[in-house]
Amino acid sequence: MIDFTLTEDQELIQKTAREFAVEHLAPGVMDRDENAEFPYEQIKLMGELGFMGMMVPEEYSGAGMDTLTYVIALEEIAAVEAAASTIMSVNNSLVCQLLADWGTNVQKDQYLKTLASGIKLGAYSLSEPQSGSDASNLRTHARRKNGHYIINGTKNWVTNGINSDIVVMFCLTDKDLGSKGISAFIVDKGMAGFSTGKKEDKLGIRASDTCELYFEDCEVPVENRIGEEGAGFKIAMNTLGGGRIGIAAQGLGIARAALEAAVSYAGARKQFGKTIGSFGAIQNKLANTATEIDAARLLIWRAAKLKDRGKPYVKESSMAKLYASTVAMKAATDCVQIYGGYGYMREYGVERLMRDAKITQIYEGTSEIQQLVIGRELMK
Ligand code: CAA
Repeated sequence: MIDFTLTEDQELIQKTAREFAVEHLAPGVMDRDENAEFPYEQIKLMGELGFMGMMVPEEYSGAGMDTLTYVIALEEIAAVEAAASTIMSVNNSLVCQLLADWGTNVQKDQYLKTLASGIKLGAYSLSEPQSGSDASNLRTHARRKNGHYIINGTKNWVTNGINSDIVVMFCLTDKDLGSKGISAFIVDKGMAGFSTGKKEDKLGIRASDTCELYFEDCEVPVENRIGEEGAGFKIAMNTLGGGRIGIAAQGLGIARAALEAAVSYAGARKQFGKTIGSFGAIQNKLANTATEIDAARLLIWRAAKLKDRGKPYVKESSMAKLYASTVAMKAATDCVQIYGGYGYMREYGVERLMRDAKITQIYEGTSEIQQLVIGRELMK
């Protein structure tokens, strides 16, 4: 039996995140989207509030909170600026959580503390031009030489790639072993032979940056390897299991924003002498979206609670992401439909929700990959 009553602390975090988002994210959100401008000041403030390392123990400068509290905060940030929630989610779920779970004490002292406190920003780099859903099909490789690994190759679609200080990346250390020949490394931005590509021009979450990473004889000390040689794929997959709960919460935030905008518009817009919200056709859309949003939240909170209790959550995390991302896309599309001609105009701000929602069905594993993961878990 799972109890979903929020604690006083969780309610306080929810309120803090909501107020922060309204006060600090809402004012410039449309300009940052239009100009693909990174929210530097806002991310710095989120670090000061403890939002950049929420699940990291306090001894490593994190907020020491659980996954449920994290997804509650993430939903609030996503409801106002999905791009900011992407930056937050990658730093929290994919970088800090990975280092907290798999890093050595030295790595935690050297890297986790500054990442969790928001002084530095992290990126997670798994994909390559030929390797998206087929995540173990990597070409980037590392050769060990005199206390270092020499890394060569190209990674792509790296969120926070340009603005991060540290990248956790995965590459082959043994080309013959497939997924068991992959290792994980921490790469500092300043390391020789490491460079970033141009900022990608994206459909949505435009204020977060995405780019390619290039490794040309990049020398990384052996001490920067995370886990054993060959353990990289397991680390990557395990980390994505947690990350997917965060992306589900992002989808939930977008869906909620769409519903709130649609309800507000439907209550004000008059056609045929009545508000459009008084028509069954509109109410049905709103009713379905409200129901789907609550169902998505329950799936997300269940996955978060299972993770917090140390129980298996791979299937539940994929279910939450699959469902919440579908709800986000549908809620945003319905919101634009309810706004009609106005919804199609940038000025009204709801078409951004549609553009932002789409990525939740793609990154950290496409919907088809979530179905594959759920299907495999069912057949075990
Ligand atoms: N946790 C721990 N270990 C896992 C795991 C998990 N969730 N899933 C798989 N593994 C392990 C398996 O147990 C297996 O180990 P053993 O051989 O010891 O049993 C090993 O990993 C290989 O697993 P599979 O044979 O299942 O691997 P596969 O090649 O069939 O691929 C997959 C599995 C689920 C399709 C995987 O490739 C996948 O998740 N693909 C999607 C990749 C993805 O999500 N990319 C996102 C990029 S990051 C991103 O988007 C971040 C961003 O910037 C926002």
